[in-house]
Amino acid sequence: MSDGSFRGQPPARQSLAGIGAFCIYNPRMTPSPRPAPPADMANPAPVEPLIAFSDVHLGFDEGDVLHGINFEVWPGETKVLLGETGTGKTLIMKLGAGLLRADSGRIWVMGHELGEMSEQELLEFRRHLGFVFQEGALFDSITVADNVGFRLQEENLSDAELESRVREVLRFVELESSYDMYPGDLSGGMRRRVSIARALADRPPVVFYDSPTAGLDPVTSQTIITLIMRGRDLQNVTSMIATHRVQDAFGLANYRFDPGSGRVVHANGASSAGSQREGHADASRGTNVLVLREGRIYFEGAAEELLRTSDEYLKKFLASAE
Ligand SMILES: Nc1ncnc2c1ncn2[C@@H]1O[C@H](COP(=O)(O)OP(=O)(O)OP(=O)(O)O)[C@@H](O)[C@H]1O
Ligand SMILES: [Mg+2]
Repeated sequence: MSDGSFRGQPPARQSLAGIGAFCIYNPRMTPSPRPAPPADMANPAPVEPLIAFSDVHLGFDEGDVLHGINFEVWPGETKVLLGETGTGKTLIMKLGAGLLRADSGRIWVMGHELGEMSEQELLEFRRHLGFVFQEGALFDSITVADNVGFRLQEENLSDAELESRVREVLRFVELESSYDMYPGDLSGGMRRRVSIARALADRPPVVFYDSPTAGLDPVTSQTIITLIMRGRDLQNVTSMIATHRVQDAFGLANYRFDPGSGRVVHANGASSAGSQREGHADASRGTNVLVLREGRIYFEGAAEELLRTSDEYLKKFLASAE
């Protein structure tokens, strides 16, 4: 993949070499001919992507919707899937979480090749991921605490431990006071925060946030983005975030949560420019953007590269920011 590239004419996927490093996790895969990135002993580089899509296609009766999706997400990276409505963001997120199966192509997540897994294996696999559904998907008949603790209940914790973990994660999203409430009692933004708390509750290494700001006002959207930023900067969550809001991508790329001051501060250009293209070492904590257009990746790169684009479609898309 090229860096920061305009992908009006996406090149055919070059090879699977870019994801061969997964054989560390998956002994069934053959070792990769890919050369190792330069060694940096002081700052060891993450050498295998946590998520990789290779030439993924998906269609329905009406025809193909995803036309050969290729990308990688490296440990610590935040990948923003930016695109207008209907461009395929949710489908990509669901494919990555094993909620949908691709028609062709290959998907690896945390060392598993999803296409090779049985439904039972996928069920188990999904328990290790966080997923914030676009529609929220909270259970309205149980309390906020029970929603958040839903997956933790499978961990055989004592009641006291379970309550403590649920309170901790509700505190993280600043909603501890809603512990005994029902989702129906909450505003849209609060429900979204509960969904995020649920996704983060068992500290998954990878979280998919599907359009977490959709339908929210700009101020509430900013709160949600700050929360995602805190997950990234305090818990080192690797994530994919689908959104149609250009501001979400720039917010995540240009700001970071500073644990010292407990505040959001400017990243001072220390964001991800170039990121993994320069030997993976900088991918950690980097934020990179994929712009989707009609089921294809049209741009891939750092947010600041997107800002400098001379492509007419992208310029128009950037200008659409509220
Ligand atoms: N189950 C389905 N059957 C048929 N078409 C589908 C199905 N799911 C999605 N699509 C189509 O695939 C395309 C991409 O859908 P997707 O939900 O991924 O878009 P999106 O980028 O998430 O949009 P939004 O920003 O509105 O959430 C759309 O044209 C949609 O109508
Ligand atoms: Mg969607």
